Amino acid sequence: MLNDFPLWPQQASTLAHRVDALYIFLLIITGMMALLVCTLVIYFAARFRKRAGVRAEQIEGSNALEITWSVIPFCIFMVIFAWGAVVYFSQRTPPADATEVYVVAKQWMWKVEHAEGQREINELHVPVGRDVKLIMTSQDVIHSFYIPAFRVKQDVLPGRYTVEWFRATKPGTYHLFCAEYCGTQHSGMVGNIVVLEPAQYEAWINAGPNGPLSDSGEKVFAELGCSTCHRSDVQGRGPNLQGVFGNPVELEDGRTVTADENYLRESILDPGAKRVKGFKPIMPTFQGLLTEEQVNELVAYIKSISSKPAGVKTTASAASQTQAQRNGSQVQ
Ligand code: CUA
Repeated sequence: MLNDFPLWPQQASTLAHRVDALYIFLLIITGMMALLVCTLVIYFAARFRKRAGVRAEQIEGSNALEITWSVIPFCIFMVIFAWGAVVYFSQRTPPADATEVYVVAKQWMWKVEHAEGQREINELHVPVGRDVKLIMTSQDVIHSFYIPAFRVKQDVLPGRYTVEWFRATKPGTYHLFCAEYCGTQHSGMVGNIVVLEPAQYEAWINAGPNGPLSDSGEKVFAELGCSTCHRSDVQGRGPNLQGVFGNPVELEDGRTVTADENYLRESILDPGAKRVKGFKPIMPTFQGLLTEEQVNELVAYIKSISSKPAGVKTTASAASQTQAQRNGSQVQ
C-alpha cells in the first residue's frame, strides 16, 4: 500500500516495518489529539460566546475529569514507551552470529573492510536475509551511518567503536548517507548499500585480492612485535590473548570488564587504561602509530584467536567453530 503512495522510504530490512508501524501509531495519536483540541476550541468558542444577559459561572473543578485526562494520556504514553523500547532494544542488540563488517569514516568517505578481506569505499555489499553487524569508527570527526531504507542510523565517533546492525530483506541498491554535519563536503559523503542474493554475495566476497582481515592483523601483530610479549605457549610479559575476546578480564584495579571490541581497541591505544591483573605497565601505547584499518585488523586477529584452540591457524575453521559454539549455546 505504501509503495503506491510513497510517503516513506522503501522498506528493505526486518526493522523497517517495525519502525514505520510505531511511527504511524505516533502520527495517528498526535493527529487525533490535534483534531480533538481544535474541535473543542471551536465548539467552546461558539458555545460559550458572550451573550447579552448571560453571566459566566465559576466552576470549582472536577476530580473525575482531572483523573480521566491524567490516566488516559498516561496509558497512551506507557504504550509508546514500551513499544519504543522494544523496537529500540532490538535495533541496539546485534545477533551473536551476525556477519561482521568494519567501517572507518573520514572526511569525506566511508571505508569498508569485510572480515573476509574485501575492501570498498562508499559502497557496502551485503547478502539478503542475513544479519550484518557494522563495527564503526571515525578517523577524524563525528559522522553518522544512515541507511533510510533499513531505518538504521548510528553516530560514528573517533576513538571508539559504535555498532549498528540490520538484516536486508530485498536485493537492490539503497542510499547510504552521512547524517551528521562533518564539514564542507558532508553532503557529498554518500554511498550505496548493495544487497545481493546469497550466491552472488558469495561470489563477490570471495573475488577480492586480500586474505581474511584476521590474517592481515596477524601480520601487523608480528611486525609490531606484539607477539614477543603476548605469547600463547608460555606466560609472556603480556597477557596471553588466546580466548580473551568476549570473556571477562580481571583488572589490576579490581574491576572486571568484558573483552569486547572497544576494550581491545583501548588496550592497544591506551594500554594503561585497563591493565590486566598481574601484569606490569610496560606496554607502550600505539596511539598515532596505527591507522584505523590496522587497529581493526588487530582486533579481528585477536577475535579470531579467541574462538579456536592454540595451534589452529585457519580463520575458516575459527569461524565455523564460533558458529558451532553459538549454535550450541542457542540450543541450550
Ligand atoms: Cu560525514 Cu557528515
